[in-house]
Amino acid sequence: MNTRFTRRHFMGSAAAAFGALGLRPQSALGVALRPPPPGLAPLTLYDDLAKLSSNENPYGPSDRMMASMNAAWKYSNRYGYPDGDIHEKIAEHHGVGTRNIIMNAGSGETLKVAGITFLDHREKVVGVEPTYTSVYRVASGIDADVIARPLLADHTQDIDDLIKVTTRNYRDVGLVYVVNPNNPTGVVVPDADIRRLLDGIPEDIPVLIDEAYHHFVRDPAYSSAVKYIKEGRKVIVTRTFSKIYGMAGLRLGYGVAPAEMISEMRTYATGSVNALVRWGAVAALEDHESEAWVRDTTIKLREATANELRKQGFEVIPSETNFFMVHTGRPASEVRAEFRKRDVAVGRDFPPMLDYLRVSIGTEEEMKRFIVAWNEIFPDGMTTGGAR
Ligand SMILES: Cc1ncc(COP(=O)(O)O)c(C=O)c1O
Repeated sequence: MNTRFTRRHFMGSAAAAFGALGLRPQSALGVALRPPPPGLAPLTLYDDLAKLSSNENPYGPSDRMMASMNAAWKYSNRYGYPDGDIHEKIAEHHGVGTRNIIMNAGSGETLKVAGITFLDHREKVVGVEPTYTSVYRVASGIDADVIARPLLADHTQDIDDLIKVTTRNYRDVGLVYVVNPNNPTGVVVPDADIRRLLDGIPEDIPVLIDEAYHHFVRDPAYSSAVKYIKEGRKVIVTRTFSKIYGMAGLRLGYGVAPAEMISEMRTYATGSVNALVRWGAVAALEDHESEAWVRDTTIKLREATANELRKQGFEVIPSETNFFMVHTGRPASEVRAEFRKRDVAVGRDFPPMLDYLRVSIGTEEEMKRFIVAWNEIFPDGMTTGGAR
């Protein structure tokens, strides 16, 4: 009887024999074969945390996105590989041309590039506080000034005030920055207010509208500002694949703007976006079912959690995003430390709202852990904070 050797069997026993001799297996040409990959890194403390601190999507990419990315590994050693035409697909998604789109490694990079492009030394960026601070940090880094105006008592952005301040400083304002819906409050700027802002300031001032949480909004008064770009206004809208599509660690964001503004911004951007995320994004834009599931599940968990806190007497700011802010009535930093002891990470400080805590929406299990910890930290409801 013949002994039948498969190729794999042969390679396996050859490798074992070479291994025993302390030699690396070699190919037929005498070239050393690539060593086997090391085992997976052990779990870290990080993996055990309920991560409710960075407004991430706890579910990650959908199966369809994973399949698309897995098929793209073969391009990881290439330049100029097929990329599913993601740039064209994003342009199509918004009904604009490819010259109106700049892709970056996360919308954080797009914001940074917009700041560097449109702000000069001693120019000013106008916006509110608290908000997402990346543009303000860029401004400080290049010696531009930040005019950060307070929110109104109902936590909305004071559009009349932004118009007034921008017009008053007209000559020096390089950029107006509006996060819609705002982070950390989760509150939207209605479309009518965005239009009023654009109509109320000199038309040559660029307005940067950060729509990172666009996909979670249900308020019919809200609408994306991309239509103002189509009207020919100097508006830049930024979007990200980090939130609804669950790809924060893979890094893809983009800006939509008039073609001249995009080409100015390109000077300062690398446009360096990896092969996997490009293919993941192509699938993400087509996977409407998964997008709706993430949105609906997130909103359901957000409302259930917020209502539980409201029942205990806490003020929760109505949110249109994948996070909410709750009034703790005592320094949020103390509350955060208490959560951390219980392996729950919650949002950082957002001055001047230092007795409000921002909580991102995780999985159902994570939100249960949040409520258990909350009940331990505030055993008597709002009265524990002493600020009823
Ligand atoms: C309002 C806002 N804009 C932009 C970003 C940046 O996101 P990314 O760089 O992952 O696209 C974030 C992230 O939390 C955000 O909250």
